[in-house]
Amino acid sequence: MRVIVCDTYEEMSKEAAKIMAAQVHLKPNCVLGLATGSTPVGAYNELVAMYKNGEIDFKDVTTFNLDEYYPIKRNNDQSYYYFMHDNLFNHINIPEERIHVLNGEVADPEKECADYDKHIVEHGGIDLQLLGIGRNGHIAFNEPDENLVAATHVTGLTEDTIDANARFFDDIKDVPTKSLTMGMAPIMKARKILILINGKGKHAALSKLLSGEISTSCPATMLNMHNDVVVICDKEAYNG
Ligand code: F6R
Repeated sequence: MRVIVCDTYEEMSKEAAKIMAAQVHLKPNCVLGLATGSTPVGAYNELVAMYKNGEIDFKDVTTFNLDEYYPIKRNNDQSYYYFMHDNLFNHINIPEERIHVLNGEVADPEKECADYDKHIVEHGGIDLQLLGIGRNGHIAFNEPDENLVAATHVTGLTEDTIDANARFFDDIKDVPTKSLTMGMAPIMKARKILILINGKGKHAALSKLLSGEISTSCPATMLNMHNDVVVICDKEAYNG
């Protein structure tokens, strides 16, 4: 695991965008796994700026997002589908048909999850997976538990995650209590993983990740079993 400690969030975002742009440069038709949440917004802004400067071309790139609330309409401004378009897709030249976000509107969420895993395989797997981390060590919505689930699946959100995400909603009661999430297997099968971690609130989760111990009580620690992980964090998360 390579760890890059940056002075600021801006520096962390620039580092992340550089690695993502290098991936697209190296393999223009690559498959990117993408995350939502506050953490990657700076990196997405950097990628948009690089696209506008003619430094990166997304026309052959395919993306798979990690997760989506369930149930939620795609046009709800709190859906991850909406978030990704607002922060990235609407500002770059990726064709809509190459964008994959789990659909929180479907009547059969289990089928949606099974189909998503099939599509990832049909596209040859994920070349570069971008991750954030929850304060409790979750990755995507694989929450701490006795057992983790390999396949993409429907899951409940923990109180801690609902509480953390309440900042985006008018009322905590509006936060959906379920989600569709990539399971541990498609994440761990990604050829390269980039995890971004910033802020004091993530210090405990980062420390567990870097301890080298593996536990389902901190799902991110599973990344210790992957052979190509880059952790980019800021000083606050690193030092606590
Ligand atoms: C989002 C996701 C989540 C977030 C995590 C951190 O797609 O998979 O695991 O990465 O909840 O969220 P922020 O960045 O808002 O602290």
